[in-house]
Amino acid sequence: MEDVRTLDELSKKLTLVLSDYLSQVIVPAVLRTAVRRAVPDPKVVTMADRKNLLQQLQRSVNLYMANRTAFEKCSQQLEDVLLGDLPAPRPEDRLRTVQVKIDADIVTARAVVRDMCRTEGVARALEVTLATVISELARNIVLYAGSGVLTLTVLEGKPSVLQIQSIDSGPGIRDLASVLDGSYRSKTGMGLGLAYVRKVMDEVVIDSSPGKGTSITARKRLD
Ligand SMILES: Nc1ncnc2c1ncn2[C@@H]1O[C@H](COP(=O)(O)OP(=O)(O)OP(=O)(O)O)[C@@H](O)[C@H]1O
Ligand SMILES: [Mg+2]
Repeated sequence: MEDVRTLDELSKKLTLVLSDYLSQVIVPAVLRTAVRRAVPDPKVVTMADRKNLLQQLQRSVNLYMANRTAFEKCSQQLEDVLLGDLPAPRPEDRLRTVQVKIDADIVTARAVVRDMCRTEGVARALEVTLATVISELARNIVLYAGSGVLTLTVLEGKPSVLQIQSIDSGPGIRDLASVLDGSYRSKTGMGLGLAYVRKVMDEVVIDSSPGKGTSITARKRLD
């Protein structure tokens, strides 16, 4: 979900808040610096950008303000402007499925993860990791199972959790133990895809046996 409000409008509101606490002389500079650091593309202010912008502004305000109570009040008002009036993600944004069969579906799966991450305000670095995870799972489906389904769910909570589930009814994973401990020698790839998934996700459950297909559930906290 991209923000409909422009950076200009946001800047105006932020200026109003900041002017109550900081000298008129430094407000534009504080704002300009924070925007430069937090918003890579001024035309599109994502949820993640807003969170970064809030952090940047809070950091500068903290530097300039000695009074703790005033700082907290200002922080809260900045948060209200940047995060307060946003609609909550719609339920349909928090549950997506991708049918996987051909290479192009891997690209689709990556795009879906990217979308979900933007909606949830996930940091870019984590977004890239999750896109890699989904690629590995999708590629395994294409290569070894022929077809399958990826289900992505945002589990509500503080922090929320992204659950990625990969289900196929392919041949199953034979040497599961060695695949997971990294000692597996792959004929088709590096043999590192699933080991990577296990390493970067908080929780991974793999249920696979020859002839019965494979089900992989991986979860990651989005904070
Ligand atoms: N969905 C699946 N169905 C059946 N076998 C699978 C599935 N996913 C993985 N495997 C088996 O597990 C092995 C290890 O998978 P993993 O993704 O870790 O490495 P790889 O695909 O061999 O190489 P890499 O992912 O590094 O390119 C694969 O070689 C394959 O034999
Ligand atoms: Mg693989």
